[in-house]
Amino acid sequence: MEDHQDLIRREFSQQAEAMSKAALFNDAGILNRIREAAQLTRQSRVLDVACGPGIVVEALAPAAGEVVGCDITPEMLAKARQRCAASGLTNVRFEPGRAEALPFEDASFDVVVSRSALHHFPDVAAALREMARVVRAGGRVVILDVISSENEAEAALHNALETLRDPSHVRMLPKSELQSVLENANLTVETCTEWSDPREFEDWLKITNAPERAHPLRVVMMELAGKGATAGIGMRLDGGKILFEHAKALTVAVKRASVR
Ligand SMILES: C[S@@+](CC[C@H](N)C(=O)[O-])C[C@H]1O[C@@H](n2cnc3c(N)ncnc32)[C@H](O)[C@@H]1O
Repeated sequence: MEDHQDLIRREFSQQAEAMSKAALFNDAGILNRIREAAQLTRQSRVLDVACGPGIVVEALAPAAGEVVGCDITPEMLAKARQRCAASGLTNVRFEPGRAEALPFEDASFDVVVSRSALHHFPDVAAALREMARVVRAGGRVVILDVISSENEAEAALHNALETLRDPSHVRMLPKSELQSVLENANLTVETCTEWSDPREFEDWLKITNAPERAHPLRVVMMELAGKGATAGIGMRLDGGKILFEHAKALTVAVKRASVR
């Protein structure tokens, strides 16, 4: 576990600057979808797990009572504080913390959100149990992440390619598995909205800020795509470019009242 945390911190201190400016992460339409899914009121206490550079916190804060961002990478927390201070937000705070052992009291939030982070967690089930623990009964857990193919071989290839791009990647789950992990964490899945984001190899790689990874991965993906392997993400060649799609799922789950 300690090794993976070190890897995460190294990777994301390197990605902090690029991620905070990346168009995909700042897409207003997607931030709106998260805000709508969260169903905030001006009293809502909100937690953003693995908040990164604070983009989601900044988008939710004007509609909420208080938003807390939590992450294990100090550089990300620094970026998040800077960003929200520059926006003049006074109802936000940021805490270092690991998703699998959140430093918050039981039932202390109305809403918990987490975007583009589950696939970095070595123990997704533990992280979702923690999110369920800190949200009140009837409160919402809003998860947005890339999902993999339901086909095991396609998903394995997809995840291997993601790991070659970013060694802190653990696994993107197929939708059915994500939903059963949520249900097992005492959360009832209410809605799941899916869409696809078109991706292009060079742009996908740029955010990692690790140019040495580009050449070998480009060679591997060109060869695979040329032979018709799609990795379940529609991987293909088009005029010398490597194109594919990231399937995203925005899942809203509600904490059941009974057992925790
Ligand atoms: C791809 S970034 C997403 C940032 C942010 N959620 C967003 O969408 O703008 C993933 C973030 O997860 C954080 N992270 C990864 N594993 C974590 C863990 N186990 N606990 C807390 N944060 C974690 C990283 O430090 C990084 O900031």
